[in-house]
This record gives sequence, structure tokens and C-alpha cells, in this order.
Amino acid sequence: MNMARITASVYTSHVPAIGAAIDLGKTAEPYWVPLFKGYEPSKQWMKDNTPDVIFLVYNDHATAFSLEMIPTFAIGTAAEFTPADEGYGPRPVPKVIGHPELASHIAQSVIQDDFDLTIVNRMDVDHGLTVPLSLLCGQPQAWPCPVIPFAVNVVQYPVPSGRRCFMLGQAIRRAIESYDAPLKVQIWGTGGMSHQLQGPRAGLINADWDNRFLDRLIAEPEALSKVPHIEYVREAGSEGIELVMWLIARGAMSDVAGSGKPPKVAHRFFHVPASNTAVGHLILENA
Ligand code: DHB
Ligand code: FE
Repeated sequence: MNMARITASVYTSHVPAIGAAIDLGKTAEPYWVPLFKGYEPSKQWMKDNTPDVIFLVYNDHATAFSLEMIPTFAIGTAAEFTPADEGYGPRPVPKVIGHPELASHIAQSVIQDDFDLTIVNRMDVDHGLTVPLSLLCGQPQAWPCPVIPFAVNVVQYPVPSGRRCFMLGQAIRRAIESYDAPLKVQIWGTGGMSHQLQGPRAGLINADWDNRFLDRLIAEPEALSKVPHIEYVREAGSEGIELVMWLIARGAMSDVAGSGKPPKVAHRFFHVPASNTAVGHLILENA
């Protein structure tokens, strides 16, 4: 077995205020204690299960991209990615080291497998990517492994369907598992859970819907992938649509490819509130 393989998938919200709480030393404040407690087992799990590469599915928030250019799916093929200045200066976190060779292989494979990707050779990465890394890895001098950023447009309609995201995850799995090096790869799906940042419904949280989403993501991802956009937006708020990205990571798990073995739930956590959102988190290990 000399080929790369996907060992686990990780799912987490990316709330920017969480990054600020970490960077400004506020994690021990009563408001934040329950949230960070929920990620203690995850940090230990990351130490015990450090992969060789993380394939990190996230969304850019009009930071690297803008209305001038809107790629639906963009893969970062650069050697490194700088934390972005989102208006308050860049987060004081390590730069992200990429894996150009694996990223190029995935681009080649997935594009030949009929998914159109945008190749990105220079890109700053915003809270969508750095907050999940901080939650799972803490505050290290360097991130524990290379990261391939994979940006999905969930900001400007039309955005991709859950179904397409789920199928793309399956193509990414085929790509990774045809890479001729014995790399352990994790795939992360980030964003969500329910939240709406603007308009008359700003502040919307739907904990019942969120928990049902987590249940179904674990047990019936194929059926979950058929949920239409309108249900995400109605039930989980306009920014709840970020959750379609979780279906990319879930589609890459081995049970979807027919292994017959459901993934092991290594950790599950849900908390309300963090800033304007519900926070959800799952770690699934391939059986
Ligand atoms: C908030 C949440 C997000 O997912 C985001 O991208 C920006 C802001 C919030 O809760 O404030
Ligand atoms: Fe967001």
C-alpha cells in the first residue's frame, strides 16, 4: 500500500470571533469557556492523529476573491498561503504551507473526472481557513502539516448544490487515492452551522435543524445531499448555506465509496452561541 489515503474527515464552524478570542487571549472568559472546552478532545485527537496533509474545504469571504471574479471551486496549488488582512490586520498565525505536488495531482484527476476547478497559484487565506486550523491545532509556531486550500463559492448565487458537493467529494477521494506516495490525508469541511448575518432575520439560529444535519451527515449523507438550497436558507439562515461544504468532506469517506463500514464518530460537539452562529463540530474516522 504505497498510495495516499484519507484517514479521517473533520467538520467545524469557522466563526471569525473565535479566532479573535484566541488571538486576544480571551479563551478563559466565561462566554468562551464552554466553546473551547468542546474542542479540547479535538486538539488531543489532532496530536494523536497528525496527518501528512490536510485538504481543507472552506469558503473565502470576499477576501482573496470578489465580485470581479467568482470561482465555484478553487484549488490552491501554491507552495504557501499568507493569512489575509480582513480589515483588522492579518491574524497572528503561521503562514500556511501548501502541497503543490499533491494539489496539482488532485486538479489533474478531478478535472479529468468532469469537475471544473479553478487553479489558484497565489491566494491569501481568511478566517474560513485559519479559524478551523486554530481550533484543532491551538497556537503552534508552525501548522503541524501542509494544507491544500480548497475554496468553494457559497457567497454569491448561484452556489453549488449539496448534491454536486457530495459527488465532488467522491472525485477528490479517487484523486487522493491515486497519488503514488503513502500519505495520510485528512479532509476538512468547514463553515456553518445555522446563522444569518443580515436583514430582518439576522441572528437566526436553528439548533434542532443543525443537530438533525449532524445526525444525517453521519448516517445518511447521500439522502442529505439532496436537500435543496432553499431549505438551508429557510431553516439555517442565509449563511447556513456554508454547510454544503461539509458534504464535500463527507463524500470523500470510504463508506460512500462502498467499503460497507460506516465511519467511526471520534468526536461530536454542538454549542450556541458563538458570535451570531451555532457552532457544530464532528470528527469521523474511516473504519
Ligand atoms: C460570523 C460568522 C461567519 O461564518 C462569518 O463568516 C462571519 C461572521 C459571525 O457570527 O459574526
Ligand atoms: Fe462564514
